[in-house]
Amino acid sequence: MHAIIRCALATTAAVALPAGVAPATAAAADDVTFTRDVAPILQRSCQSCHRPGALAPMSFETYEDARPWARSMKQKTALREMPPWFIEKNIGVQQFKDDISLSDEEIAIIGAWADAGAPRGNPADMPPPVEWADADEWTIGEPDLIVSSPRMVAPAVSADYHDELGPVPTGLTEDRYIKAVEVKEVRLWDEATQAEARENARSGFGNFTIHHIGVHSSEVFTEQTDLSLEDRSRFRMVYSLGQNATIYPEDTGITLAAGSELRFTVHLYSSGVEVPVRADVGFTFHPEGYEPEYKQSGFLAMGNIGDGLDIPAGEDDVRFDSFYTMPQHGVLTTYEPHMHSSGKRMCVEAVYPDNTREMLNCSKYDHSWARVYVYEDDYAPILPKGTVLHIVGWYDNTPKNRNVVDPRNWKGWGNRSIDDMFLLLPKVTFLDEEQYAEVVAEREARLAGQATNQQD
Ligand code: HEC
Repeated sequence: MHAIIRCALATTAAVALPAGVAPATAAAADDVTFTRDVAPILQRSCQSCHRPGALAPMSFETYEDARPWARSMKQKTALREMPPWFIEKNIGVQQFKDDISLSDEEIAIIGAWADAGAPRGNPADMPPPVEWADADEWTIGEPDLIVSSPRMVAPAVSADYHDELGPVPTGLTEDRYIKAVEVKEVRLWDEATQAEARENARSGFGNFTIHHIGVHSSEVFTEQTDLSLEDRSRFRMVYSLGQNATIYPEDTGITLAAGSELRFTVHLYSSGVEVPVRADVGFTFHPEGYEPEYKQSGFLAMGNIGDGLDIPAGEDDVRFDSFYTMPQHGVLTTYEPHMHSSGKRMCVEAVYPDNTREMLNCSKYDHSWARVYVYEDDYAPILPKGTVLHIVGWYDNTPKNRNVVDPRNWKGWGNRSIDDMFLLLPKVTFLDEEQYAEVVAEREARLAGQATNQQD
């Protein structure tokens, strides 16, 4: 049955190109221009963060803004540090929604452009600017409900600020199904102080204070295996810096129950001055009376080995393995590794009930970026009940890892970012027997169609 996801394996072998690699296309080094070749790449993969007021401290919207960064762009893209998209390209499923990663060819184009002295090119080639939503606009549309976290204060200087806040009542009087959810950081101070903070910022993150924040409704459980579908579909999420809105698949239901309350697990980033801040969580709901076809988990927390997480001081490539057995049939709709500062890499492999194995994904982990990768619908792994997910994590607790504050310290499980975690937090759509048969049949039909096309 599981062979149905095998087609998702990519064939490219190169993960990172050495800097200075020759451009692979017609774009010969002396020919690459900003307006024609580079600007479209920046629009698709960079400007969501690199524009005024957004996450990154430098804008790449215009030629004038981007040009001084040409060499740095070449370096960061060749190392695949930018854009922050860390799925390894030579193994596992490669079809993700909103994939901003660069192809080898695009990396070569940026490199060639930098090497050629970052020429502008013909202004007429410049694509029209992208119209980005304002920072204070909700991309999910006007929310039906906004729940604000309590006020928090990020200390001026701190390795990590962690707190558990709430509960905050949602005020809901009926159960509702969530269509989409978006989290916004709101700084509770005036512009002048904010400007000062930006000046003082230890790095480019001076515009933002929330590093990541877990938001969950209070009925949420910690032990997953013996829960009913209803319980598993309670709302929970991890928001992290720069994250897009979460739009749940159309026919799946995540519930926010009548009388529910939200709890917040907060990690704040110090920027040199005290910052008062809160998080606003905006929800849009499906209409009242809506009945979803499937139930989905807000996410499952897989992999927790608790005190088994034992990372010696100064060691690299410290490896842990963990296992999660699917209690029901399901579709993994996201891949979300969650580690902390010494986290370096994660892989997840499916061991199917017939004992065959398949690597689903591997990714670099960089705790500056707690990313969520959303599978394209047609490629989301379908896992029969009893499938064992084998999760492997690697840690680098040495000075090479710039997220580690003090590599002389042993690291174990803990909530602070300077402690560590070992979690896979995938969203899973659960299926009963009938739904499972249906989903498998659909996938097989699509793959059969693809095979025919290839033969044509
Ligand atoms: C999700 C947000 C995001 C996206 C998308 C993104 N960046 Fe960045 N980028 C940042 C942030 C934040 C920083 C500053 C912090 C850091 O250096 O890590 C940064 C820093 C950089 C720097 C380092 C500048 C220096 O200090 O030398 C370069 C170069 C860069 N980005 C290039 C790119 C390019 C090129 C793309 C697209 C191909 C891209 N980035 C996409 C968020 C982003």
